[in-house]
Amino acid sequence: LSLLVLHGPNLNLLGLREPGIYGVTTLEQINEQLVTEGKKLQAQVTTFQSNYEGALVEAIHQAYGVYQGIVINAGAYTHTSVAIRDAISGVKIPTVEVHLSNIYQRESFRHHSYISAVAIGQISGFGADSYLLGLQALVKYLDRSRN
Ligand code: DQA
Repeated sequence: LSLLVLHGPNLNLLGLREPGIYGVTTLEQINEQLVTEGKKLQAQVTTFQSNYEGALVEAIHQAYGVYQGIVINAGAYTHTSVAIRDAISGVKIPTVEVHLSNIYQRESFRHHSYISAVAIGQISGFGADSYLLGLQALVKYLDRSRN
C-alpha cells in the first residue's frame, strides 16, 4: 500500500504553536511516527505539508493513481475549503480526516468541516495520536475493501 499524509497550514509550526492545544510534538516527529507505523502496517507513507490551499489541491490531484489512501489534516482549510473537498471527491481516493484537537470542544467556527462529507471518517482530539489512529483506520478500511 502507498499512502499519502497531507498537512495543511500552520502545521509546520507544531511544537511551537499553542502547545496547550496542539501538544509539543513537532511535525517532523509526527512524520517519523507515521512512517514507522506505516512499516508495521506494510504501507509506504509519504508526507507533505503546505500552507497553500492550491498546493494541497494539486497534491490531491497528483495522488490519483499513485496512492490508495489519504490521511489529511487540512488545518484551518477544514472549515473554509470547498476546493480541497472537491479535490478529494474528484479523485475518489479513500480519505481519513484527522485533527489534533477536538474541534467540537472549541470555537463554533471549527465545528463545521467541509472535508467530513467526503471522508471515510474523522478522528479528532487525540493529539499526535490522531494521525496514527487515522492511518490505522485507513489501512483497515483498505484491507477490508480489497478482500
Ligand atoms: C486543526 C484544527 C483546526 O481548527 C485548526 O485551524 C488547525 C489544526 C487540528 O489539528 O486540531 O490548524 O486541524
